[in-house]
Amino acid sequence: MSEPVATFPSYDLFTPEVLDDPLPLLRRISAETPVSYIPQLDAHLITRYADVLSALKDRRMSTANLTQGLDRLTPAELEELRPVRTSVAMWMGHTDPADHVRFQQLLKRYFTPATVDLLRPRVRELTHELLDAVEPRGRMDVVADLAYPLPANVIAEMLGMPTRHREQLQAWSRDILALFQLADVDLLRKSQRSVLEMQDYLRGLVDERRRTPSEDLLSVFVAAEREGVVTEDEIVANCVLLLFAGHETTAGLIANGLALLFDNPDQLALLKSEPELTPSAVEEMLRCDGPAGVVARVSTEPVEVAGTSFPAGRQFYLAMLASNRDPSVFFEPDRFDVRRKPNRHTAFGLGAFYCLGASLARMETEECFRVLLDRFPGLRPVDGGPLRRPSLPLGRRIESFPVEL
Ligand code: HEM
Repeated sequence: MSEPVATFPSYDLFTPEVLDDPLPLLRRISAETPVSYIPQLDAHLITRYADVLSALKDRRMSTANLTQGLDRLTPAELEELRPVRTSVAMWMGHTDPADHVRFQQLLKRYFTPATVDLLRPRVRELTHELLDAVEPRGRMDVVADLAYPLPANVIAEMLGMPTRHREQLQAWSRDILALFQLADVDLLRKSQRSVLEMQDYLRGLVDERRRTPSEDLLSVFVAAEREGVVTEDEIVANCVLLLFAGHETTAGLIANGLALLFDNPDQLALLKSEPELTPSAVEEMLRCDGPAGVVARVSTEPVEVAGTSFPAGRQFYLAMLASNRDPSVFFEPDRFDVRRKPNRHTAFGLGAFYCLGASLARMETEECFRVLLDRFPGLRPVDGGPLRRPSLPLGRRIESFPVEL
């Protein structure tokens, strides 16, 4: 295949208006062209559902989550960040395909819908505990008091982390986020420090499990190490991945989901009166404002996207934020409809890199909303509601979300 012959319309994703709300521009891009060019990222953007779907399925497109922030660094900075780059290169999905499958085979069975369902009562209990703590105050910050600590506690328990270390784990996980954004080098240094501290901490726990195995995921890793399936370096790197992935994304879904409910009072009322709609409401939250609004890919071989040929080594951003609102697939795509069926969004990705934690995230979010709306039916936003910040290169995160119970 030859170099692409077409020139692509180019768009600026970094204007204040787009950073504030990228959806209007994404709608326009989607209507105007299947593939566009983003100069600041030196990457192509794909926004239409069919094209995003085929790119997600295409084995010639490898994950490229880290290159976005690091490509812009100097050689000296890259060298300084070598330890974190080496560690993240061992994360499942960032390795070569054989190592990726090895990890998937090891972990998949602990994240099936049936296995995850066994944790439901515990998630309900943890939700109640968090709400018990804020009830006397009559208000809370949904992010700090519920959305963040709930999934953080669940994944920490699954891995077997002692309760007393939960806050430290949460703080480390927050720092890691910078690796996935277009962060400056100081933030990346801070991320590296946190990853290395977390890994040192995990090495101590791995050592304990070698002496005294338990029922947790860390013990599963240690058993696999004994059989020669994984190394200690791979264990600690992938525990960091699970802790990070377990903390950040589900927290975003809970906060975004609640904001959608408040923005759509008729749907909130419907969900309160028919709690059995919770699973389909969660799917609609994932479609409308799933926390992974974009994933990055690099072509490892020549590929074709929307009828145009690209050589190996091209970067692509697949904007699920846009494709999950493609009007050719979703009826009235901008309507938040807790009954929507079918709802074939791709908020958890698809194919080889499909989210390992999808069932867990769904279950946690369902239980969280069931308990929250049942216990506090009068819940309402206060102090201006959710505070959003841009999450580069595309999307927004809710940083704080004051509500009255
Ligand atoms: C609402 C919550 C979540 C969302 C929206 C989400 C989204 C995603 C997406 C889009 C991918 C694919 C990335 C790509 O194709 O490049 C992914 C992969 C992954 N996610 Fe999640 N995720 C969520 C929760 C979780 C949780 C709770 C965990 C773990 C406890 C987790 C662990 C992972 C792992 C390990 C991968 C890599 C899978 C592989 O490459 O085989 N995620 N996630």
